[in-house]
Amino acid sequence: MTDRLTIPLPDDMHLHLRDGAMLKAVTPATAAHFGRAIIMPNLVPPVVTGAEAAEYRARILDALPDGNPFEPLMTLYLTETTDPDDVAAAAESGLIHALKLYPAGATTNSASGVRDFAKVQGVLERMAEIGLPLCVHGEVTDAEIDIFDREAVFIDRVLDPIRRRTPGLKVVMEHVTTSNGIDYIASVEQGLAGTITTHHLIINRNHILAGGIRPHYYCLPVAKREEHRKALLAAATSGDPRYFSGTDSAPHVDAAKESGCGCAGCFTAPNTLSCLAEVFEGAGALDKLEGFVSRFGADFYGLPVASETLTLEKGAPLEQPKSLETGDGPVTVFDPGFPLHWRVIRD
Ligand code: DOR
Ligand code: ZN
Repeated sequence: MTDRLTIPLPDDMHLHLRDGAMLKAVTPATAAHFGRAIIMPNLVPPVVTGAEAAEYRARILDALPDGNPFEPLMTLYLTETTDPDDVAAAAESGLIHALKLYPAGATTNSASGVRDFAKVQGVLERMAEIGLPLCVHGEVTDAEIDIFDREAVFIDRVLDPIRRRTPGLKVVMEHVTTSNGIDYIASVEQGLAGTITTHHLIINRNHILAGGIRPHYYCLPVAKREEHRKALLAAATSGDPRYFSGTDSAPHVDAAKESGCGCAGCFTAPNTLSCLAEVFEGAGALDKLEGFVSRFGADFYGLPVASETLTLEKGAPLEQPKSLETGDGPVTVFDPGFPLHWRVIRD
């Protein structure tokens, strides 16, 4: 039985680090296990310009433990007034690696997102020209669409039309949560990929709602039925390079989660790799973990696979940290609901 697995240092292709005290508290958790991460720009106010991304990047580097070589891969928040020249310059300089599309109102801090997609067509065409990927939060926001259907409807009404009118645009469908999303990605040969989060491989909607409401499992897109979780698991463990890991680790202080109107987000950064090793082992696909966390994302973004390695070692159940103290208050760490046996060793 395999009890040690050495892989290139993983990348987290979808991560929220926040700012201020929270940034200082959570950044070391990711930097301990990942070499790079695609950094989400949904701060308040959002990271819209190249100059803002450069400043945010400096604050992230400042939050790293001394000597840690973690590389933040910056993104810009796409708005209806985004300047294509600023985007091109930030991409050309190597500062940014993607733009993030939030439909206005879809999720945490998405108020500045896109309402009228015609207004961003010029930017999308420029991105296609220069090969800069668009990361998409794939949910419609219309009040009349059921929250469990918002991803599937988004594909038909928004994502597919965008892709058709913008040939060559590279798109990442972020945090896919449905078999509809998996099927859509599988139907496209090139230029479309999907990130899958750790928590969506583990929980379904019962975990959030059955036997009492569990706010720490609430995230967006919300976890769906078990059949969808199974489709995500099959995709993640398939070895198909179109699916790769993006944790969407999204810390909120407990007071904001355990509330009458709780925030969306699961904080998975500290135990993501241990969770994923357990999940892939359970699926009989431990050999597919390396592609999912260390290779396919880098390939999609045109980055070299890390030369540094990391080892996962199986042993007695790990002591799982329940929560992380931050200057803003405690943040609960994602509880997978099963013991974790895979320890992360930085080689
Ligand atoms: O659960 C989520 N949390 N989904 C998102 O899309 C945003 C994120 C956040 O920023 O808290
Ligand atoms: Zn996110």
